[in-house]
Amino acid sequence: MSDLEEELRAIVGPAHLLVDPDLRDAYETDWTRRFTGTARCVVRPADTAEVAAVVRACATAGVPMVVQGGNTGLVGGAVPAGGEVLVSLSRLTALEPVDEIEGQVTVGAGVTLEKLQSHARPAGLDVGVDLAARSSATIGGMVATNAGGIRVLRYGSMRDQLTGLEAVLPDGTVITRLAGLAKDNTGYDLTQLLAGSEGTLAIITRVRLRLVPLLPARAVALVAVDGTDAALTLLAAARGRLSTLAAAEICYPEGMELVRSYGRLPAPFDADYPAYVLLECAGHTDPTDELLDMLGECAAVEDATVASDAAGRARLWAYRETHTEAINTAGVPTKLDVCVPLRELSGLVAVLSETVEAVAPGARTILFGHLGEGNLHVNVLGAGEHAEQVTDAVLRQVAQRHGSISSEHGVGRAKAEWLSLSRSPEEIDVLRRIKSALDPSGVLNPGVLLPN
Ligand code: FAD
Ligand code: MLT
Ligand code: ZN
Repeated sequence: MSDLEEELRAIVGPAHLLVDPDLRDAYETDWTRRFTGTARCVVRPADTAEVAAVVRACATAGVPMVVQGGNTGLVGGAVPAGGEVLVSLSRLTALEPVDEIEGQVTVGAGVTLEKLQSHARPAGLDVGVDLAARSSATIGGMVATNAGGIRVLRYGSMRDQLTGLEAVLPDGTVITRLAGLAKDNTGYDLTQLLAGSEGTLAIITRVRLRLVPLLPARAVALVAVDGTDAALTLLAAARGRLSTLAAAEICYPEGMELVRSYGRLPAPFDADYPAYVLLECAGHTDPTDELLDMLGECAAVEDATVASDAAGRARLWAYRETHTEAINTAGVPTKLDVCVPLRELSGLVAVLSETVEAVAPGARTILFGHLGEGNLHVNVLGAGEHAEQVTDAVLRQVAQRHGSISSEHGVGRAKAEWLSLSRSPEEIDVLRRIKSALDPSGVLNPGVLLPN
């Protein structure tokens, strides 16, 4: 064992330094199985002091690190490119008591979203962000990626929940800002700088979040519509009429077919339709009537099925939420996560399949996403050796429409090469200057977000 490994073992204890390839294995490949690399070793510190000591040891040895939370990220940012020390935050699972007066909570970076939901709900509070990877995605990872999910339309992304954090800088310095003040104009906002920084500026060790009211009364509608334009008409009606609107999601026939066969789900309607919208309303009192009234009056509705009980709601959500698993079961996808102004969404949807077909003949394009934000998940199965051409062709279509090449998953390694489609040279220069100011030796997540 080398000097660095000996030092890391002394910091975290022998059980938490993994050098054996069999033990490292689960950490080295991402959720989609597309991104994989060999780590020098995996190190699992228990708390902020151990994270700082690990970072100091690696920085002094000039050895790069890759940071990992729940490893549910979809852009290859949490797995090694080759030879890094992989720092896993999975043991930072402290849950401080819910602060009911502030409506906030402070938790360790390795706490999963599901654990935090269970912690907050008995106090009548909830986490503003929710996503299907809730059982494994960590709060630290969600801040680092500025995760979005299914409730952005109501509560915003992860950065909107963030009131403070603690983090270890690439030289081992610890910065702590956890008072959660509602007003604080004392200079540059370091907390917000780290939201969406994808582990390139610091390792987040503790997070303070504002919580939202737990809304017990919910109603979900799965609505058949005539296409993307009709879906947007429905969205406008829902936004205008439903004070309780909590989610607006979209999927298409190819995805519907895949999730139905994956989950053995019955056809939701007697006929097939060009697009499906899932709406959720949530409040302190039952929003079902409000939802039914809107659906009854919106001309874009071709058919609809509504559920207010928990089992019925979960049954309808399964048509949308199991897309990711169903696609991953069918093959290793090329996943793109893009966002365009809503007026551009129909035009983009109309050209995507042919755009993919032109560079990867025979590949399958499956679209779904968060309608409220014009956020489309473009998943391509069977792209094979054409994955890079698919990425390039699709992202150029998005850029032409003034969109973003990463709406919520981040840039990671997967899209670093295409960053200039969404950020100007001047902006990229500023990003690089911020990176060099905090990480002059480039030891933290090299190759992630900013291309090498
Ligand atoms: P990881 O995958 O471990 O890491 C992600 C990035 O953050 C990496 O760059 C890593 O280096 C960095 N990082 C992790 N922890 C830290 C830390 N403590 N400090 C600094 N950097 C860190 N994403 C959405 O936005 N919306 C969705 O709706 C959504 N749904 C999903 C559904 C499924 C089924 C799956 C598998 C994924 C989904 N994702 C979604 C993607 C993923 O869950 C999110 O990106 C999540 O935020 C990643 O959290 P993680 O703990 O798994 O992070
Ligand atoms: C989702 O919205 O389900 C996620 O972002 C996951 C994905 O894109 O596959
Ligand atoms: Zn998503």
